[in-house]
Amino acid sequence: MSSARKLDVGHIGVDHADLPPIDAGRLDPRLWFASPDRSLEIEIGPGKGTFLLAAAQRMPTTNFIGIEWAAEYYRLAADRMRRHGMDHVRILHTDAADFFHWRMPDDIATVIHLYFPDPWPKKRHNKRRMVQDRFLIDCHRILVSGGELRIVTDHADYWGWIDEHIDHHTHLFDRCPFEAVGAGDDEIVGTNFERKYQREGRPFHAVTLRRLDRA
Ligand SMILES: C[S@@+](CC[C@H](N)C(=O)[O-])C[C@H]1O[C@@H](n2cnc3c(N)ncnc32)[C@H](O)[C@@H]1O
Repeated sequence: MSSARKLDVGHIGVDHADLPPIDAGRLDPRLWFASPDRSLEIEIGPGKGTFLLAAAQRMPTTNFIGIEWAAEYYRLAADRMRRHGMDHVRILHTDAADFFHWRMPDDIATVIHLYFPDPWPKKRHNKRRMVQDRFLIDCHRILVSGGELRIVTDHADYWGWIDEHIDHHTHLFDRCPFEAVGAGDDEIVGTNFERKYQREGRPFHAVTLRRLDRA
């Protein structure tokens, strides 16, 4: 039996196959939690869940959703949260861009974290990058007033792309410096990719976009 089969996502894992059908429209993921009225933070692409676990341990009265596309990481992260008793975390197995666009309601998240997203460096693959005009518009809609989209990447070309797309939407977000939160010494966010790239001496690029209110 492979190690993946021994993982238990328990009540932490939410698979897209178990959600109401797409034509049911938007759904409210706050209702997945025992205390749905708490603040909600979302991490896109948590991988093995290292950042999410640390954040959830630091903020036991905030609800967290990690949205992970890769089945293996979904199971790993959900199993890890379950073993640590993180009842205020859910790991959703789905495509975050489409889930944001079609299923997420307005005004529900205080923070959206996007750390070391896949860079899709080939020009013909750039359209697969998470940061797109549609994504930024969706983040603005999903964030509460004053809510934040936080982005970190090591990839210079992707950073240029992110910068350019942010400039398309200056009416939606205030561009603010990125403040490292609760990570280890000299760390920005403390994800696995940050730790790996830090050992390689790569420079990082980071930005916080604070939601401006609609006119
Ligand atoms: C480069 S890894 C970074 C993982 C983690 N954030 C870190 O910094 O260690 C990118 C992660 O995003 C996930 N991912 C890629 N596209 C996704 C999508 N459309 N929806 C949700 N997760 C996605 C990948 O499966 C992977 O876990």
